Amino acid sequence: MMTKTFLTKSIFFLALAMVVIACQKKQKKRIPMPTTDLSKVSLMPKPVKTVPTHSAFALDQFTAIYTSKSSTGFEEVGKFLSKKLKSKINLDIPVNEETSNIVERIIYINQSDSIELGATEAYQLYINQDSIILNANTAEGAFRGIQTLRQLVPETSNDTLAEQAIWPVPSGKIVDNPNFAYRGSMLDVARHFFNVEDVKKYIDLLSYYKINVLHLHLSDDQGWRIEIKSWPKLTEVGGSTEVGGEAGGYYTQEDYKEIVQYAAERYMTIIPEIDMPGHTNAASVSYPFLNGNGKTPKLYEGTHVGFSTFDTRKDTVYSFIDDVVREISEITPGPYFHIGGDESHVTKKKDYIYFVNRVEKIVQKHGKRMIGWDEVAIADIDSTSISHWWSSEENAKKAIEKGMQIIVSPAKKAYLDMSYDTLSKHGLHWAAYIPVDTAYVWSPEEYGGMPLENILGVEAPLWSETISNIDELEYLAFPRVIGYSELSWSIPENRDWEDYKIRLADQAPFLDRMNVKYYPSPLIDWKKSKYSYETIEKD
Ligand code: ACM
Repeated sequence: MMTKTFLTKSIFFLALAMVVIACQKKQKKRIPMPTTDLSKVSLMPKPVKTVPTHSAFALDQFTAIYTSKSSTGFEEVGKFLSKKLKSKINLDIPVNEETSNIVERIIYINQSDSIELGATEAYQLYINQDSIILNANTAEGAFRGIQTLRQLVPETSNDTLAEQAIWPVPSGKIVDNPNFAYRGSMLDVARHFFNVEDVKKYIDLLSYYKINVLHLHLSDDQGWRIEIKSWPKLTEVGGSTEVGGEAGGYYTQEDYKEIVQYAAERYMTIIPEIDMPGHTNAASVSYPFLNGNGKTPKLYEGTHVGFSTFDTRKDTVYSFIDDVVREISEITPGPYFHIGGDESHVTKKKDYIYFVNRVEKIVQKHGKRMIGWDEVAIADIDSTSISHWWSSEENAKKAIEKGMQIIVSPAKKAYLDMSYDTLSKHGLHWAAYIPVDTAYVWSPEEYGGMPLENILGVEAPLWSETISNIDELEYLAFPRVIGYSELSWSIPENRDWEDYKIRLADQAPFLDRMNVKYYPSPLIDWKKSKYSYETIEKD
């Protein structure tokens, strides 16, 4: 019986043979390549190891992509790469096609069982003059690898050296895997609603920088944003407004599935959050029996926090939560369910503990691992649950004493909704002003002295009190979220502000091509971009 490795290798050599034959038939001269240095390309986040060999692969119309076909997902990764190269350089690069066209060079996306590729998202790239080989153990690893490859393809062709346009990809070897398994951003769609297209755009941009988690803050005092079929008023009433009094909105379950699917195609996990027992005014307006603060709930369009609570002593409240967690979990393939748990200032401490203990069991019953903001660590929760550290070092330490893992999101360093500086058009500053350097120059491994083995990863939350459309979202998220991708993907030895800020300047052509309204921070010399990027007039 042929093994999978043998089959993969056979397909690979077949593909290589095709190239050799094609080259021989045409007796085509090798295209003279400029000397390019792989170690000088502005890769973001920075890979573990890059070894340049000072030549180049000539990407052009005679390039084809082949992939391992017997391993799930590899062909789709190849097609994703082809689609993204089409939109970047307008070349139609076939994938696993028996083409009658001349194929002179191949990109081969190969499933490999090499022990060097032990981590799920690890990949290796070998770039030679005639081939690019991307090795990965999993399609997820291959997907991360093609993000690097996309960044290696120049924005503009070098058409002075050959009859046809070529895009020289610098040769050498890249060995890479992530520092943290969890690399996230959060989007608050409750204070202001962002539609499916906006969320997809954010996902697509994040995935280019190897971020693999999008946490959606789906409910708060100002809005309930996901259809729950057994409790329809949540969206009919609770979804009808937002901060500032605009119309709000919500995702139908079909919309949510579309987001989840779009994220899955980019190997990104969606984490749903239903914030409770505080931050629940919109739910209590929809179903007043939930309310535990003794006041008659009314729709809320302001930005205060800490005034609402569920009634934690009523069994019917837990039946309601059971339905909500069940319906959302059924359409969430990822392993996590975020219960919020922050700023429940009007819930008595003993009621809060009782509530979190009970809700943790509900989450587990529906097959999910509970995440809660750092306050949840005061309850008697299980070591399998996760504390989302945003504010209190004491709470984070309590979680660690319980053997829990933590997600590092300190508001002073990682909150994307903090203004850059006093002139920022959007954002708040209750935690800090976070200019682009402050966002980058800190170490999640060392922050607060938490044990490394308890750190699951890093997340950059984007709360939406001050932003109401995608341009404003992008203004706060970019370029800082690129820094958080590097803080979570790259090892500390590879992180350096002086080097980072040059690589960040080189992201401008990509961000512009994607129509991202990033904040052109004066700390970054955008004009020094290798791509002679000139137009930094952003408002
Ligand atoms: C939070 O910022 N209230 C988690």
